[in-house]
Amino acid sequence: MNAKIKKAIYPGSFDPITFGHLDIIQRSTQLFDEIIVGVLNNQAKHPLFSVQERVDMISELVAGIPGVRVLSFEGLLVDFARQMDATIIIRGLRAVTDFEYEIQIAQTNHVEYEALETVFLTTSLRYSYLSSTIVREIASYHGDITSFVPREIIPLIEQKMMKTA
Ligand code: PNS
Repeated sequence: MNAKIKKAIYPGSFDPITFGHLDIIQRSTQLFDEIIVGVLNNQAKHPLFSVQERVDMISELVAGIPGVRVLSFEGLLVDFARQMDATIIIRGLRAVTDFEYEIQIAQTNHVEYEALETVFLTTSLRYSYLSSTIVREIASYHGDITSFVPREIIPLIEQKMMKTA
C-alpha cells in the first residue's frame, strides 16, 4: 500500500467562492488526504475582494471539513506547488468551453514541473452554469444570489457592491 500522504492544491481566484467551488472541495476530500485551497493574489485582475478577505471567507466556510487548509499564493502555481510539496492540482470542469483553457494550463504546468499532475473533476450538474463572474454580475445589479453562494458571505458581497456603486 502507498502510505504517502496525497496532498492536492485546488487553486483559483475564488472572487467570490461559490457553491460550485465548495462542491469540488468537498468531493476532493474523498480523493486526497489533504487539500490546500490556493487563493491567487493577482492585483492585475482588480478583484472584488482582497486576497486576505477571500482567504478568511473560505477558511470560515471550510472550517468543518477535515483535511482542508486555505492559503494565498502569488506568482506561478508550479512554484507554490513546489513550496507546498504537492504534486497534484485539482481543477473543476464545467463544460467543454472550459476544456481548452484548462488543458493548456495543465500541460504548461506539467512541462514546468514534471511531477505535477492535474486532476479534473466534473462540476456537479446543478452547478455547471455557475461562475464567480456571474455571481459578481448579478450582485452588481442587486439580484438574488442565494442559489449561488453560501448565505454567510452574501452580506459581504452586498457591502462591496454598495462601495463600488
Ligand atoms: O479561478 P481561476 O481564475 O480560473 O484560477 C486560475 C488560476 C489561479 C488557477 C491560474 O490563473 C493560475 O494558476 N495562476 C497562477 C499563475 C500561473 O501559474 N500561470 C501559469 C499557468 S497559465
